[in-house]
Amino acid sequence: MKSYITTPIYYVNDKPHMGHAYATIHADVMHRIKKMAGYKSFFLTGADEHGEKIAKASAAQNITNEEFVQQNAEHFISAWKVLNIDYSFFVRTSSHFHKDFVQKLLQKLYDAGDIYSAEYEGLYSVGQERFVTEKELVNGKVPEDKDPPIIRKEKNYFFRMEKYQGWIKEYLADHPDLISPPQYANEVLQMLNDDIGDLSISRPRERLSWGIPIPWDNDHVTYVWFDALLSYLSAIHHADPDDVEALWHSSNHIIGKDILKTHTIFWLSMCKALGFTPYKRLLVSGHLLGSDGRKMSKSLGNGVDPLYAVEKYTSDVLRYTLIKELRFGSDGIISEEVIQQRLNNDLANDIGNLLSRTVAMINKYSNGMPPVLSEQTLQHHFLIKLAAQTFDSMMPLVDEMKLSMAYEKALEFVRELNKFINDTRPWDLFKQGDKLQLDETLSVLFYSLDVTSRLFYPVIPEKMIVMRDILGLINETLTWQLPTPAISKHPVAKSVPPLFEKIIN
Ligand code: MSP
Repeated sequence: MKSYITTPIYYVNDKPHMGHAYATIHADVMHRIKKMAGYKSFFLTGADEHGEKIAKASAAQNITNEEFVQQNAEHFISAWKVLNIDYSFFVRTSSHFHKDFVQKLLQKLYDAGDIYSAEYEGLYSVGQERFVTEKELVNGKVPEDKDPPIIRKEKNYFFRMEKYQGWIKEYLADHPDLISPPQYANEVLQMLNDDIGDLSISRPRERLSWGIPIPWDNDHVTYVWFDALLSYLSAIHHADPDDVEALWHSSNHIIGKDILKTHTIFWLSMCKALGFTPYKRLLVSGHLLGSDGRKMSKSLGNGVDPLYAVEKYTSDVLRYTLIKELRFGSDGIISEEVIQQRLNNDLANDIGNLLSRTVAMINKYSNGMPPVLSEQTLQHHFLIKLAAQTFDSMMPLVDEMKLSMAYEKALEFVRELNKFINDTRPWDLFKQGDKLQLDETLSVLFYSLDVTSRLFYPVIPEKMIVMRDILGLINETLTWQLPTPAISKHPVAKSVPPLFEKIIN
């Protein structure tokens, strides 16, 4: 069982922002769940280091392109450390292995007659790093851009993309699950109703020297998107050469909706021309909005900086909010208010209280030693059945990146446990001296907390390790299934500080 998950390979012209954290945390959670479920999972993220945007930004700082990308790639690497991102490999598109890979494939396309040179004049968006059409402009510019596109005339090499237009349509029709959520597949089909044209894949070196040289013409460098998309493949060829085929067949690309065209029209036609089967699935997210309801952006200043949020709320709380708050694929607001609500309600009230109530009861009614779940209870108790169902029902949602829905199920399980405490009233069982019933109740709760820590570990790993320590559950590999009920050798912690501190304004 293999799994390959990628984030977009981020432009490192600036520091990581919340949109980057959003995609990366989603990939991380999928990766961790797949590993727990026994998959060999490979998780790729990285830095897109070529192109005009980067060249402009490094010129503005008066340092070389190499120094600039080195410094900024490190910002990403350290941000992912702070956010507990467990990636398998961080690809940098300025690496030698990547450059060799791209040049080899360019040469292959050139030799096959899929690349030609021509004089080209068109509207070029520096923000998007591509030629754009009049149709894409609103009030004279691409909506996401700061500046209007510029008119550009130059010799370019072109990839015969249009040749593959019919094939892309057929492929999408034959693979209705390729793009998720499906509204984005419809968007691509719309794009395919117009001519897609051929793709300019080079830039003259006199204008832009920072890029991978075109192998047969040293006066030109490779267009940044042609280079970056190939990093999804160059990275696994480099980092896991024996498993390239199997990983690629199980590949999931996570992207934001603004880079849908490049990941479908461009990338699918490139795969076809190069003789690769396309990726297995494209998982497309919506945009994070600021509290003003507009797309989060540096220039609007309406965003929350992810590192600030980690500092103030911890990485677990930010991770959880980004997973739980929005339906993957739709736009939604991420503000400090939203983070605080998730912290106070789901994490502190639902999970935190469940832990402190259970531990207090085990201390009070069972001398700190959790009673062992009997075989009978394991087979028949409704909460154990619900636990098994929760593991099973989350997995298909995870495969579609519907993590918010998946974690709603995990949260429902936690809420059922809190309700179970209220319904069974262990304090009354204790008073009545009903030891049998009391032990069963505590054993179910203890076991279910072991389950809870497994369900939530992929999203809030730090706190779930703390919780397992408190419970005396240590040194165990966490799996995505019902644990074997163990005879606990360790008592639970005597006193439990709140797992999550609420924020009251
Ligand atoms: N370098 C390219 C990707 C190449 S992949 C082979 C690129 N990089 S990027 O850094 O500009 O953007 C990466 C991702 O951030 C995109 O998926 C984009 O959707 C996402 N986001 C940027 N702003 C965003 C929000 N406000 N909300 C959510 N994601 C957003 O494009």
